[in-house]
Amino acid sequence: MRVGILTGGGDALGLNAVIYGVVVKAFELGHEVVGILKGWKGFLNNETRSLDITKLNDLHATGGTVLFSSRTNPFASIRDHENPKGKEEAIRKHVREVLVPKFDALGIDALIAVGGDDTLPVAARLAENCDKKVIGVPTTIDNDLMGTDYSLGFWSSVQLATTTLENLQTTAKSQQRVSVVEVMGQNAGWLPLMSGIASGADIILLPETCFDLQKDVIDVLVKRVQNSYIYHILAVSEGVIPTDESLERDFKTITKETFDKLPKDVFGDSKRASLNFSKILAKELEKNAALKAEFQKKNVELEVRDFVLGHSMQAGIPNAFDRILGLRFGVRAMELVHKGKTGLMVSLRGTKIETCGLTEGVKQRVEDPKTTSDLLALKRLVTSTKHVSKKK
Ligand code: F6P
Repeated sequence: MRVGILTGGGDALGLNAVIYGVVVKAFELGHEVVGILKGWKGFLNNETRSLDITKLNDLHATGGTVLFSSRTNPFASIRDHENPKGKEEAIRKHVREVLVPKFDALGIDALIAVGGDDTLPVAARLAENCDKKVIGVPTTIDNDLMGTDYSLGFWSSVQLATTTLENLQTTAKSQQRVSVVEVMGQNAGWLPLMSGIASGADIILLPETCFDLQKDVIDVLVKRVQNSYIYHILAVSEGVIPTDESLERDFKTITKETFDKLPKDVFGDSKRASLNFSKILAKELEKNAALKAEFQKKNVELEVRDFVLGHSMQAGIPNAFDRILGLRFGVRAMELVHKGKTGLMVSLRGTKIETCGLTEGVKQRVEDPKTTSDLLALKRLVTSTKHVSKKK
């Protein structure tokens, strides 16, 4: 068999480990692997590279992806179809007429698609609507896919975010500042949640629940200052949204319209990260006269600095966990292809590598704030004790 593999969407640490896992297992099973470049873009344009096992020594320990990536939506032309039934039919037609012939053009019998909630739904559509073999591997720093406990790359990013959030404490403390740190994860707050807790951030704002600037930020800062805390770290998801009430009452620099007018990406998702919310928050806090007065009572000038972690969250090398997970995902994906399976996604359940339906597995997993998740309870618990009165 000749098996194609592509990596699409935002890159996550561990992609090369999946590629290496696929290649070494294919070598053992006697199959050939061809690398498709730039995700769905290379699939459509027939851009490939060979993946010769003798030239990929210890690829699993390296960052990025040797196959490159891109955010390409093969269904972009039918994305905004108004009628759901018509859209479904248009997608099926597009799969039959545009995507399926690419298997022959690329000379592949099966495809392993590696990515997150942009890349894998396309793979799921492909698997649903043709008899070619398609397997998905979940990788995203957002950790927001239903079918797996952890997606590949997530824990490397949590470590990177934690280290920076923690390091920023020394400078924030020296200057007695408020540091607003913007952490990736537009719609899912797993990364700010975990890194915020792990690093001991004082306030953590997630995109799943709208926040109230007065109650969730200013009142907490006031309490902290009154209790003699001299620096403050806020871990803020790039996708946070204030409540309508707070927007109207507390914000001077943005309105509800600002959110309504956000640009969309090629998959039709609102680009909340383009707002650069940490900057907005920093400005709003610095303009707050009551907050300023509280700081002055303690002989401290209110100074707020914003810092965007951005793509540094997916930079460098994967941690040991993601190297191993990537290899395990890659090996299992290749085994599934070997057995002639299709429409499946590999996944981590507990400590075991399992499989689930691709269509189900790629649905978005967010932490519902209304549920009593122990992680959200933990966030409440650790942050609520961060402004209690210091013992004299
Ligand atoms: O893949 C998801 C994600 O990592 C988001 O957390 C982030 O906002 C976005 O990708 C960044 O996308 P890009 O790399 O295209 O700027």
